[in-house]
Amino acid sequence: MIRIFSLLVGAFFTVVLGWSFLVGAHTAVTEPKTLSAEKVFHLKPEPFHLSSDGVFGKFDRQQLQRGFKVYQEVCAACHSIKHVAFRDLAALGYNEAEVKAIAAKATVSAKDPLTGELKDRPGLPADKFPPVVYAGLGVPPDLSLITKARPNGPAYVHSLLTGYRDQPAELLKQFPEAKTGDGLHYNPYFANLNLAMAPPLTGEGQVTYSDGTKATVEQMSTDVTAFLVWTAEPKLEQRRQTGLWWLGFLLFATVLGYMAYRNIWAEKKGH
Ligand code: HEC
Repeated sequence: MIRIFSLLVGAFFTVVLGWSFLVGAHTAVTEPKTLSAEKVFHLKPEPFHLSSDGVFGKFDRQQLQRGFKVYQEVCAACHSIKHVAFRDLAALGYNEAEVKAIAAKATVSAKDPLTGELKDRPGLPADKFPPVVYAGLGVPPDLSLITKARPNGPAYVHSLLTGYRDQPAELLKQFPEAKTGDGLHYNPYFANLNLAMAPPLTGEGQVTYSDGTKATVEQMSTDVTAFLVWTAEPKLEQRRQTGLWWLGFLLFATVLGYMAYRNIWAEKKGH
């Protein structure tokens, strides 16, 4: 009796599963595919390489300084980097006086130690980069962690900065309703193809690099992306170094263990 009952229960579930599979397969085959402009015209980031890539990769300090300059002179008008403190910039090769001078140019809202009141004062090396007030369309995200927050982050940021173009005629023909709205800008690397950020890097010479590097759009984009890889993980080199050290140590311990094993069993095995 119990046996028949359990067989029936089993059969019931098998039938239900089989039925739902057939229904699903049927809809998958017969339902018309809905295409959207995003599905057809979105592009994956172009391949992008930095000196900090790979296990043995190292930051290029000159490049990080150039990238910081691009951030300060272009992006900082709209984007904050709130997780970075001015003194962290010492890692880019700035000396103490330079860090102090960079900090002092910023205005930081801090508690007055005597009254406890919030007051504006020039930044100090220990301060973090202050928030940025932005009044335009859209919400500029904080950039400290952006290269980690987006899939394939560094390549994405670089492609986004250099990827603005006119909306393809083909797109407008297929999806007239997807026309870029007022105040938005077409960029096939952005998830929904249109974003509120106007192309920030506009032309050669927008910044003047102190090391004489020619400031093309490609160069500025590469440098500022390198800088944003650093802000997202300033301790990247140390982390990898520690990893390699441990790997070496474990390898050594393995060899030692194997040798000890051979030694201890040598007699018993009768070699
Ligand atoms: C005039 C203001 C302005 C400037 C200057 C500016 N941005 Fe933006 N940025 C924005 C706004 C607004 C958004 C949000 C866009 C949206 O969500 O539609 C944005 C978004 C972004 C995003 C995020 C895209 C995403 O996936 O969400 C990145 C990355 C970015 N900006 C990088 C930069 C860099 C690097 C610079 C400097 C070279 C820069 N921006 C300069 C206003 C600005």
